[in-house]
Amino acid sequence: MRLDRLLGALALGTRSETQRLIRRGEISVNGLPVRDPGAAVDPARDRVSRLGEELDIRLERHILLDKPAGLLTAARDSRQPTVMGLLPPVLAGLGCMPVGRLDKDTTGLLLLTTDGELNHRLLSPARHVDKTYDAEVDGPLGEAERAAFARGIEAGDFKALPAELRVLRCGPDAAEALVTVREGQFHQIKRMFTAVGREVLRLRRTAFGPLRLDGDSVPGTWRELTPEELGALRRAVQMEEA
Ligand code: URA
Repeated sequence: MRLDRLLGALALGTRSETQRLIRRGEISVNGLPVRDPGAAVDPARDRVSRLGEELDIRLERHILLDKPAGLLTAARDSRQPTVMGLLPPVLAGLGCMPVGRLDKDTTGLLLLTTDGELNHRLLSPARHVDKTYDAEVDGPLGEAERAAFARGIEAGDFKALPAELRVLRCGPDAAEALVTVREGQFHQIKRMFTAVGREVLRLRRTAFGPLRLDGDSVPGTWRELTPEELGALRRAVQMEEA
């Protein structure tokens, strides 16, 4: 790709600004100054520096964010702060987008990727990627609720596929459970619990397909996926051979 376009994608400025900094001699490719804005670069192979400092020129980025409560899951919003505000602006510039949504008050594992095909496949109802949530609810949970989840909750216009409910803690006024669902309908977990007479007090996603949130993960923090995690994710949606 053209060097000026690459720098634009990395949010180093408008086309004319990146052309100016290239012509000023600020940019080196593989250690050699390049003053031609139209010079061809291969982001997968070349090393690009600005004023001697190497730039991260990876255009494909996959981010695992521990979403805190209080932020919208959206690429942008005119009124409310979104999860994108937690990430370096370059990621939004590269087209890194959330995969699905977590409610504003839900915390936990949110994947963001620049790969539109991966994003699309992970959300496709045909592929059924498992998602696990840790939920605290306002009353006891037992065999009746477990069986209802396993059968597939049906309530009015809402019908969920069979899901797994594993109770971790149970008292007369509250319980905590892990719920694994294979789809991602609007307010899915909250509506499933509503259907069995419970209100969700706290919801945290701990797993998405083969990805797991570290037990000591802190909401608001993020990291890039490891190559192993990316490989497992791609295999989960048949994007590469097992
Ligand atoms: N189900 C919900 O009810 N809310 C979420 O944020 C995710 C799943």
